[in-house]
This record gives sequence, C-alpha cells and structure tokens, in this order.
Amino acid sequence: MAGFLGEAYPWIKALHIISVISWMAGMFYLPRLFVYHCAAEPGSQLSETLKVMERRLLRVIINPAMIAAWGFGIALILHTEAWHAGWFHGKLALLLCMHLIHAAFARWRRHFANDANRHDAGFYRIMNEVPTVLMIGIVILVIVRPF
Ligand code: HEM
Repeated sequence: MAGFLGEAYPWIKALHIISVISWMAGMFYLPRLFVYHCAAEPGSQLSETLKVMERRLLRVIINPAMIAAWGFGIALILHTEAWHAGWFHGKLALLLCMHLIHAAFARWRRHFANDANRHDAGFYRIMNEVPTVLMIGIVILVIVRPF
C-alpha cells in the first residue's frame, strides 16, 4: 500500500490537517461553554441555550471532524507506512488520551443536558487545558519526529 495515494498525498495531508484543526477548535471551545454553563440556573433561558450550543458543537463539528481526521489519517498511515516509526507510536499514545478526554466531554455534556452537572467552573477550566497540552505534544511529534 506504500505510496498508493500518489499525486493525492499532499491533498490528503491537507484535508487531514483541516479536519484536525476543526476537531481541536471544538475541543478547546466546548469546555469553555461548560464554564459558562456552571453559572447558569438549571431551567433558565441561558442554560437551555447553552445546551443547544453544546449539543450542536459536539454533533455537528467535533465528532464529524474527529472521524474525518481518522479517515485521512489512516490513508496517510497506509501511504507512509508510519506504523514503523517511533514518533507515530508516541502520537498514537497521545491520541488515545485525546479520545479519553473527548469521551469525558461528551459525558459531561449529557450531564448538563439533564441538569445533572457535578463539577464547578474551576474544574472545567483545568479540563480545558488537557486537549491543548495533548495537541502541542502531537504536533511536536509529527513535525520534529524526535524519535
Ligand atoms: C485521528 C487520528 C490520526 C491519525 C491516524 C494520524 C496520522 C497521521 C499520519 C500517518 C501522518 C502523515 C505523516 C507523513 O506524511 O509522513 C499525519 C500527518 C500529520 N498529522 Fe496526524 N494523525 C491523526 C491525528 C492528528 C491530530 C489529532 C493532530 C494534531 C493535533 C495531527 C497532526 C498532524 C500534522 C500536523 C501532520 C502533518 C505532518 C507533516 O507535514 O509531515 N494528526 N498524521
């Protein structure tokens, strides 16, 4: 399969990065909405509006962008045979962590949707940093390739 993308390789890599940027933009924004949601009274107009924003952000942007990042990413793996590379093993480990925080964000969104949030704004401010730190690690691994 190595090289199977041929002329399409740079286009697929561009689409991979575009979908990754969309995924990360949503992962940075959703916990911010959780911070504001902590200040909204359950049942209030603000709380109901934030529920709609959180649901649409997750289902219309974050989840489709994640699926696209994987789709183009798998094509790149097969084209470059990246599975041999140490940097890619490190990237996969950080990606697993990214999926754990993605799943946690989806769970906390459901809690807000059911007026059953269990955490305060300070907790979500800290959780907001997790995808940022993981993104920095992934980009350094894939560009610098330290190992
Ligand atoms: C979702 C699963 C992902 C898979 C399977 C994957 C896989 C890959 C592969 C195989 C390459 C090609 C490397 C090459 O051309 O030699 C690549 C490139 C890249 N990936 Fe991913 N990736 C994923 C997610 C991400 C994420 C979450 C980020 C950033 C947060 C990211 C950032 C990049 C960047 C910046 C490049 C371009 C590197 C270059 O120009 O050589 N990827 N990815």
